[in-house]
Amino acid sequence: MTNWTLIRKTRCTSTNDVAKKLPVYTAISACNQTKGLGRIGRKWEDGKGNLMVSLVLPKPKKDAYLYTFLISLAVAKTLEELTPKIKWPNDILIDGKKVCGILLETVQDKLIIGIGVNVRSCPSNGMMYPVACLKDYHFNITYKVLLKNILQNFDFVVKYYQKKGFKFIRQEWLNFACGLGKPISVNLPHETLNGIFKGVTNMGALILQTQDNKMLEITAGDVFLMKD
Ligand code: BTN
Repeated sequence: MTNWTLIRKTRCTSTNDVAKKLPVYTAISACNQTKGLGRIGRKWEDGKGNLMVSLVLPKPKKDAYLYTFLISLAVAKTLEELTPKIKWPNDILIDGKKVCGILLETVQDKLIIGIGVNVRSCPSNGMMYPVACLKDYHFNITYKVLLKNILQNFDFVVKYYQKKGFKFIRQEWLNFACGLGKPISVNLPHETLNGIFKGVTNMGALILQTQDNKMLEITAGDVFLMKD
């Protein structure tokens, strides 16, 4: 087991920002964030009783991006009794509603994994997706226990990845994947692509089969499920 140093702050700007100055294998969580960061330059709203934590890891020698799959798999396993789904690349949904967002950043020799779980409250406004919190599903857990469980599962998944490689993680991840084999639309900065979600490459890119039977590999974007 990794010996994580746990730090708790009452308030900070963003745990990801604070994490960048901390030693590896620190998990820093906060009750409030004044400048919570989301994916693709968005904001992440904090909420009472929610888990906002950043993990500091040594930057892997290669393919740091694949950790997005390792951590989302670990969170999904932690919430397994709620039959979670993972929406590429790393949103955790329950009943089609987002309960957890993950933001990876690299800085010099560190990889920062920021995790936000709606435990007891939901963001109030302007979300692109439907959202929910664990309390809505009568999953009563403290942020502390949730964090401990996520760290335990993450350790397990990382060891498995180091031993077996991404191929095996990808298979497990796909078992949780939302919309696999179904029509999706992917919002990119300047266009929206429609097609069938066929899987994930060795590098974690989403494979989209377009109407003219091309296989596109998408490395960043927002996925929306379409009615089939
Ligand atoms: C997303 O947009 O889905 C990613 C959200 C990530 C939020 C977490 S909360 C803890 C950590 N600190 C931040 O500022 N962001 C991440």
